[in-house]
Amino acid sequence: MGYMHLLSLFFTQIILLLVLLLVAETTAKVPAIIVFGDSSVDAGNNNVISTVLKSNFQPYGRDFEGGHPTGRFCNGRIPPDFISEAFGLKPSIPAYLDPSYSISDFATGVCFASAGTGYDNATSNVLNVIPLWKELEYYKDYQNKLRAYVGNRKANEIFSEALYLMSLGTNDFLENYYTFPTRRSQFTVRQYEDFLVGLARNFITELYHLGGRKISLTGVPPMGCLPLERTTNIMGQHDCLQDYNNVAVEFNGKLERLVSQLKRELPGLRMLFTSTTYDIFYQIIRSPAAYGKLYSSFTKEF
Ligand SMILES: *[C@@H]1O[C@H](CO)[C@@H](O)[C@H](O)[C@H]1NC(C)=O
Repeated sequence: MGYMHLLSLFFTQIILLLVLLLVAETTAKVPAIIVFGDSSVDAGNNNVISTVLKSNFQPYGRDFEGGHPTGRFCNGRIPPDFISEAFGLKPSIPAYLDPSYSISDFATGVCFASAGTGYDNATSNVLNVIPLWKELEYYKDYQNKLRAYVGNRKANEIFSEALYLMSLGTNDFLENYYTFPTRRSQFTVRQYEDFLVGLARNFITELYHLGGRKISLTGVPPMGCLPLERTTNIMGQHDCLQDYNNVAVEFNGKLERLVSQLKRELPGLRMLFTSTTYDIFYQIIRSPAAYGKLYSSFTKEF
């Protein structure tokens, strides 16, 4: 839990800073935050689908307002929630599938993310979670509902001025490529990275054609340092798996190039790739003492 909290906290600070820089470039206000991705940004969509991958039980949510689990894979709020608050919007972004919310709530922020998903359909199949293409179908459904709720003109303005957050990719490697033989028999890891980048390109292009203009794409963290990877790295004295981290760096480089290409190809697209999440997160793992207070809370938990 402490680990996830740290992760969220740092992702949040870094993404927030970059996103604020992105938006500072524009004079327009952000009327809504719209979220796609995996457990790093899922606000509770998995609560209502039939998967074992859920977090709607304690101690998840112990620091959330009211102290109850919401389906966020975190002790408290997750990065999009802090970002929303920083833009003067709601302090937390509701999950689209949560029946206790309606279009009036979603008008200023909505989350379509699903823990366990990835760019690849085969990844979401592993734990029967929402595939990325379906997150986009839900977004289309949201567009129709918002048009009916605020009218066409206002809705289109929201779609183009909203900030879109995307955070996924880790599960494609850890839950899928390195766990099951299918993709490994079809692709080398480099080829699989390219396959995923192609899927990311298609998704972002589709989102653009649906009206999205301000997009933040978050790369993958040092995947070889995640708790499960270190726990099972018995031969390596539970250190980070360097191979996985190398793949993460390589994949992030490809995503970053994709973002520059898309910005050249798609007029009016403002897009940002947050690669620094990797570096900062890695530094914290490598020299926790340099981060003072965080060091003590980290060691207390582990
Ligand atoms: C993923 O699945 C959807 C729905 O079956 C399909 O439309 C889409 O083409 C698939 N994507 C890929 C890359 O196979």
